Amino acid sequence: MLNIALPKGRLGDQVYELLSGIGYDCKSIYEQNRKLIFENPENNVRYLLVKPSDVAIYVEHHAADVGIVGKDILMESRPDVYELLDLGLGKCRMCVAAKNGYIEDKDRPLRVATKFVNIAKEHYASQNRDIDIIKLNGSIELAPILGLSDVIVDIVESGSTIRENNLQVIEEFMPISARFIANKTSFKFKNDVISDMVEKLAVAIEEK
Ligand code: PRP
Repeated sequence: MLNIALPKGRLGDQVYELLSGIGYDCKSIYEQNRKLIFENPENNVRYLLVKPSDVAIYVEHHAADVGIVGKDILMESRPDVYELLDLGLGKCRMCVAAKNGYIEDKDRPLRVATKFVNIAKEHYASQNRDIDIIKLNGSIELAPILGLSDVIVDIVESGSTIRENNLQVIEEFMPISARFIANKTSFKFKNDVISDMVEKLAVAIEEK
């Protein structure tokens, strides 16, 4: 049985459609209930519905063999897993944003609010810029509006959240998309099935 950590939400739905199209369907996943595990013994597959930011944890700790996770989370937490394929889905970019008309004071540390502490630190270290990090867990865009921070480091997809809160993107520095990852032990012992899955996924994406 291959255990697949699927992120809950739109990205997971898109990836499930791809996987069911290449022979890993599991119709019970469409049932409206609160179950978190769905399996189809005929296809030897078990889906685990996981919070997107936790997918890599399940895979790294071998609670799942493979999973689908955003490059932002891989860059932030650097899990010890194999990144096997760029699925080209869930595309967005990591950005620095601030209030419209913001002017930076270079004589003092920049106050940066973000969920992505490591990414933000690396980004500003590469510019030799001193920063103070304010770690938040969501609604990051509020921070500069309320004067909690000068800028935010966050993902921008459509740009609506930035626009509708009167912020502007100052820098875009990392393109992001969903990646197919595997546990290192699973990759060794279930290599046939995982490699086959990667090949078929690559073809399915190409044809989309
Ligand atoms: C993410 C991100 C931005 C928004 C970007 O937040 O942190 O706030 O999406 O998308 P957009 O450019 O299409 O508007 P999410 O929806 O995950 O909620 P959060 O505030 O809980 O992090």
